[in-house]
Amino acid sequence: MSAKLSKVVEQLRQEPKQWLVTGAAGFIGSNLVETLLGLGQTVVGLDNFATGHQRNLDEVRDLVGDAWSAFTLIRGDIRNLDDCRKATAGVDYVLHQAALGSVPRSINDPITTNETNIGGFLNMLVAARDAQVKSFTYAASSSTYGDHPALPKIEDLIGSPLSPYAVTKYVNELYADVFARTYGFETVGLRYFNVFGRRQDPDGAYAAVVPKWTAAMIDGNDVVVNGDGETSRDFCYIDNAVQANILAATASDTDARNQVYNVAVGGRTTLNSLFELVRSALADSDVSYKKMPIYKDFRAGDVRHSQADISKAARLLGYEPLYTVEQGIKEAMPWYVSSQS
Ligand SMILES: NC(=O)c1ccc[n+]([C@@H]2O[C@H](COP(=O)([O-])OP(=O)(O)OC[C@H]3O[C@@H](n4cnc5c(N)ncnc54)[C@H](O)[C@@H]3O)[C@@H](O)[C@H]2O)c1
Repeated sequence: MSAKLSKVVEQLRQEPKQWLVTGAAGFIGSNLVETLLGLGQTVVGLDNFATGHQRNLDEVRDLVGDAWSAFTLIRGDIRNLDDCRKATAGVDYVLHQAALGSVPRSINDPITTNETNIGGFLNMLVAARDAQVKSFTYAASSSTYGDHPALPKIEDLIGSPLSPYAVTKYVNELYADVFARTYGFETVGLRYFNVFGRRQDPDGAYAAVVPKWTAAMIDGNDVVVNGDGETSRDFCYIDNAVQANILAATASDTDARNQVYNVAVGGRTTLNSLFELVRSALADSDVSYKKMPIYKDFRAGDVRHSQADISKAARLLGYEPLYTVEQGIKEAMPWYVSSQS
């Protein structure tokens, strides 16, 4: 654990807080719930189960034991302001994760993505502002860099969005900024770069690449690569993203608040390398995959290369990713193997 994180964790244990995690039944949300309950915090979850699963919450319940009694789930929709008000009442820290992810989903159905990711986000801002929460941290996205060619990505240099999803995540940042200017309501945006790990959904048309390929290899199915395999990403293990949320939510320095931060590792892995990493980590779990990947067309809306400069989060939040992509893949594979068998 980084020095900064140890200090924050110690403080939280001594003086537990009330947290709201929206999207609690999803991948990142359920991991936040697990960590917070493990730290003795009180947690409210808000989710409409659009893409999240009860099984994620059941798994957290089994992992945290007695701490589960400090968790309350509100089945509700961020598109409904009353649900947001109910969820934010009495809350210290908000971690807003609920949204419809996936670039292709947003291309197929921009309206629902917009209603959820922009309308829902605005409801959450209004509810959290009125509830006078201590901090509001939200899931932004590396897709906001759009067509800007610079590598690595630095927070201030963004291009034009390449998908409806990217528009929604950029609009989140604009609203967050305007809420600080007009109401003095400060927020922190975390631009996640391809987060992966336990409980990330491997199923469905909009599954992310790591769980999709892992599931395909475990089942002996074909692995499909969009493009030539030289597309690259800064894959970020879930525990790094959880760390960033805790540091962001509790950040008290004025300089650190009202900012957006890259949350990644600062590396760049091509899809071809990722294929080998997943294959070799699965071999450690006695899953042998001998097929070669199948290359198809590039996917609309996808950025060609992505890599984060994480120095801003390191400097202002004390963020120190503890897992490289290799270590994260190794950590994540046994979960996929056991949950699919
Ligand atoms: N996973 C990544 O690599 C990544 C990268 C960039 C940004 N993000 C952002 O991080 C957040 C979490 O993503 P995830 O990967 O955990 O996805 P996920 O789909 O697993 O989780 C999203 C959760 O939000 C819930 N939700 C969706 N619409 C809702 C609504 N209207 N009301 C209430 N709940 C609703 C879903 O049911 C789900 O449980 C999202 O905001 C996503 O855009 C994720």
